[in-house]
Amino acid sequence: MIVVLTGAPGAGKGTQADLLAAKEGFRKVSTGDALRKHVRMKSPIGQQAEAVMARGELVSDEILFEILREELGLDSGERILLDGYPRNVAQAKTLDSLNETHPVVVAIHLDVDAVELVNRLSGRRVCGNCGATYHVTLTPPMTAGVCDKCGGQLQQRSDDREDSVRTRLSVYESTTKPVLEYYRGKGLYQRVDGLGSTEEVFGKLKGSLSGLKFR
Ligand code: AP5
Repeated sequence: MIVVLTGAPGAGKGTQADLLAAKEGFRKVSTGDALRKHVRMKSPIGQQAEAVMARGELVSDEILFEILREELGLDSGERILLDGYPRNVAQAKTLDSLNETHPVVVAIHLDVDAVELVNRLSGRRVCGNCGATYHVTLTPPMTAGVCDKCGGQLQQRSDDREDSVRTRLSVYESTTKPVLEYYRGKGLYQRVDGLGSTEEVFGKLKGSLSGLKFR
């Protein structure tokens, strides 16, 4: 069963998905993380996706379908938190085609205003070793530039440069926002206010999930 976690770049989807996986028993599936893994491995998918991602554009639906099938697996009993997919209405329909094994029970929109999004993205740093995410001022590590969890070096994501951020926000407005209407039409849409501390937002998400029925 799938909980879709959607929202603009920098809304906190990855941060909250990690918390829900660690504390609420979900399995996190992030198409962004999966693509970055392919880029690191220099796989054929990674080689096709790398430049597209760095520009802040969307990778093709065909590649994403391959990633989705690879990452979801066949276990229909799992509670999966899907971060970063669907990103357009065609992808939402593709996900519907897997309804038999992986039904979507809710699409949660983590809603954050544009000023805060740019602030979060410009200060984000990610561990090059374990992938843990920090922010230089909002959620800093104990030692600047060093991961609390594994001691790895923190880096800026290549798509967090100003020009890529601008493209990602514009792609979100034109292409991903219609997905919210798609789920609203199916009665599966829920909005959660993404402003506030990480813990505050986590509390709001838990509240939103608590009313749901999982098989
Ligand atoms: P992806 O990795 O999915 O990137 P994104 O959607 O742009 O989202 P981000 O990872 O930037 O942000 P987030 O919402 O996870 O925020 P985070 O928790 O890190 O995709 C990357 C690329 O892959 C795409 O551009 C595209 O090219 C490709 N791609 C992926 N999926 C695709 C698909 N389905 N179709 C086509 N292409 C696809 O938080 C951000 C910062 O804020 C962090 O520093 C964090 O510490 C901080 N923060 C988080 N929450 C809070 C809080 N409550 N208070 C203060 N700071 C906070």
